Amino acid sequence: MKLTIIGTGYVGLVTGACFSEMGSHVTCVDIDEEKINNLKNGILPIYEPGLEQIVIQNFKEGTLEFSTNLAKAAKDCSLFFIAVGTPPGDDGSADLQYVLQVAQQIGQNITDYAVIVDKSTVPVGTADRVRAVIEQELEKRHVDIEFDVVSNPEFLKEGSAVDDFLKPDRIIVGADSKKAINMMRRLYAPFSRNRDKMLFMNVRDAEMTKYAANSMLATKISFMNEISNICDRLGVDVENVRKGIGSDSRIGYSFIYPGCGYGGSCFPKDVKALIKTAKDAGFEPTLLDSVEARNNKQKRVLGNKVIDRFGKDLTGKLFCVWGLSFKPGTDDMREASSLVLMEALIQAGGKIQAYDPIAMNQAKKEMPKDWIAKGHVTLAQDQYQALENTDALLLVTEWKTFRQPDFTQMIQKMKQPVIFDGRNQYDPSEVKEIGFEYHGIGREAFHIADI
Ligand SMILES: NC(=O)c1ccc[n+]([C@@H]2O[C@H](COP(=O)([O-])OP(=O)(O)OC[C@H]3O[C@@H](n4cnc5c(N)ncnc54)[C@H](O)[C@@H]3O)[C@@H](O)[C@H]2O)c1
Repeated sequence: MKLTIIGTGYVGLVTGACFSEMGSHVTCVDIDEEKINNLKNGILPIYEPGLEQIVIQNFKEGTLEFSTNLAKAAKDCSLFFIAVGTPPGDDGSADLQYVLQVAQQIGQNITDYAVIVDKSTVPVGTADRVRAVIEQELEKRHVDIEFDVVSNPEFLKEGSAVDDFLKPDRIIVGADSKKAINMMRRLYAPFSRNRDKMLFMNVRDAEMTKYAANSMLATKISFMNEISNICDRLGVDVENVRKGIGSDSRIGYSFIYPGCGYGGSCFPKDVKALIKTAKDAGFEPTLLDSVEARNNKQKRVLGNKVIDRFGKDLTGKLFCVWGLSFKPGTDDMREASSLVLMEALIQAGGKIQAYDPIAMNQAKKEMPKDWIAKGHVTLAQDQYQALENTDALLLVTEWKTFRQPDFTQMIQKMKQPVIFDGRNQYDPSEVKEIGFEYHGIGREAFHIADI
């Protein structure tokens, strides 16, 4: 099948690469010329395990193309995926300007029956708006071309995006035309071989499903973070509580790890957008409001622990931050907890030596320019160099390389052997035996017991 994917970011690039891997002919279109030129030269805009190989391979074979010219890509194409960003607007709603711009361009360029697929995460009712924009453009052209708009939300996780796309748990398709359903069924057949993973529903139901899924996962995280704060105050180790409740099959182990808040390009904005949608529809979403509020506060918990320990004035103190991306496996820094933490330390007068295995370049772009220029933050060459002469280690992103570090080497490099474990990666008894003071999330029992 011949497809055009519009928007070559995380979702667009992974979607395009994976469809071409399965034999479709794909053109990935973007307005960012530098991104498209780089892709043609084998330089990817993002880090994602396994992606580079399939992009380069399929590009060489000619089944994956990159272009800034939608009009050219649209020739003889009957499947268009909209995969542009839907960032939060000032009021929290999803900003649909990019989606609607693309709809307009599609309306200006289709020549025959086409299925337009909303892959971007968009609020309920967006497919109707996309349809209306395309109809307007066709009217302007005085042509009568049949088309359908379908919702096909994406559930890939950054850090395992290729794997998730190639082996999805489910493929949600919201469609109300038989012709469109058949095209989607054919397109996704290679991803649905071992069992039927396709779930067909109304367009609005599919749009809502994506927001409900992300909000549910964000709720689990915020719930566990709430519990961890209560544990901190009661001398309870939240890690035992986590195992105790996760073993209940109705609860399960996933998404109940306490930490320093969720970030990334999806959970924060999607929870916000659903809150706005609910309010616009006349409903007060009190639970979702709390999920968001807990997360905003949770990003401050690690910094508050540092201030509790070292005092409000951190002048003269040097901190090592391990992990900058919003989660392991990606260089994505959007809404990363590390940014909130570093800001709090800098405001209190502290300095930082930071290290991330992948996100250092991205960090340079996302951090305020003066952090490095004024010497508030230094980016280290490796994780042990980042520890040199520091008063404490702050673990923010649980990359594998941080999970079982060389504690003996660490203690030699640090000025003070203090660990703030923002992702509860270490065994408090083990690190204490080596000589560290340990602070986890919801594990102050270990510290309190020490005093
Ligand atoms: N990142 C994720 O993990 C993920 C997962 C599931 C769903 N989503 C959703 O998918 C959508 C895209 O997210 P993303 O993370 O891939 O965004 P992104 O910011 O990485 O990429 C968006 C791309 O669209 C391009 N673009 C903007 N306007 C354009 C236009 N008119 N024509 C062509 N290209 C244009 C931008 O240049 C950019 O390259 C969002 O709605 C997001 O919520 C993201």
